[in-house]
Amino acid sequence: MTPITPAFPASRLRRLRRTEGLRAMVRENSLTPDDFIWPVFVRDGEGIEEPVPTMPGVLRRSVDKVVAAAREAHELGIPAICLFPYTDPALKTEDCAEAWNPENLSNRATRAIKDAVPDIMVMTDVALDPYNITGHDGFSEDGYIVNDRTVEALVKQTLSQARAGADIIGPSDMMDSRIAAMRSELEREGFHNVALLSYAAKYASAFYGPFRDAVGAADAFTGDKTGYQMDPGNSDEAMRLVARDLSEGADMVMIKPGMPYLDICRRTKDMFGVPTFAYQVSGEYAMLAGAAERGWLDHDRVMLESLMAFKRAGCDGVLTYFAPAAARLLNA
Ligand code: PBG
Repeated sequence: MTPITPAFPASRLRRLRRTEGLRAMVRENSLTPDDFIWPVFVRDGEGIEEPVPTMPGVLRRSVDKVVAAAREAHELGIPAICLFPYTDPALKTEDCAEAWNPENLSNRATRAIKDAVPDIMVMTDVALDPYNITGHDGFSEDGYIVNDRTVEALVKQTLSQARAGADIIGPSDMMDSRIAAMRSELEREGFHNVALLSYAAKYASAFYGPFRDAVGAADAFTGDKTGYQMDPGNSDEAMRLVARDLSEGADMVMIKPGMPYLDICRRTKDMFGVPTFAYQVSGEYAMLAGAAERGWLDHDRVMLESLMAFKRAGCDGVLTYFAPAAARLLNA
């Protein structure tokens, strides 16, 4: 595209910025509640809403409260909610069997939501870290996170989530070949319409810190995830990962984290033209919400501005902890 801009004063680019009416008329991108997927933390118990200290305004909710949150999200026009379980440390094992227990927290929450609010879509997370005594996304052998044996476990986890009623399954583990393995098992078991939203380009990021507190994975975890998550210096590799996951049967792809990786969102959209999502992760939320809490930033304005950035970068939607607050503002 080559914009034609005659010389001043024929062209005064401020003309179209004069009034809100003009600005609205020519605005290139817009933000609506249907751009959001809302990640929520689920814990055991009943009637519990417990603050996550490193994420001001974010709660861990018992299943009944998650159902209430799903109802609220649906009323606000948010199309999907994404579940992350805070697992009792006593249930974490070396074989991670709780990950495919039909009665685990994530599956119980999925069934409860689909019973009570059938029209909201439930997205679930595939990775072993909530159930792993090591806090890693896969099995560890001699300090290495092994791929193929982990993928077998991820497939079992996928199937248990599909059986519970998940509409969208999001593998966040970064193992190779898991999309192909998950897709063929879903087809074989008759789950033809369960969508896969692949965390295709997920970077080894320090911005996940508050999330690991929120799901209780921080205590067990030592080391880092650089052996399977992406190196922040890479961009071409992200295109290879997106291409690979699409060719294995991903319906949608995700870039994660979001704000520091908007260039990757734009490249993905331009190169592949597929449904592209970004995850505005816990650390991104914490820095905005934390600064707003201290009065250093205007909460509502930085929230909407940060979310609009994803649309401008070509994303179809964004996973954000701001989802209900942003939807409320946009609906007002
Ligand atoms: C783990 C997982 C992580 C997030 C989502 N799934 C953390 C990690 O990879 O260590 C991070 C989300 C966030 O920071 O908001 N499978």
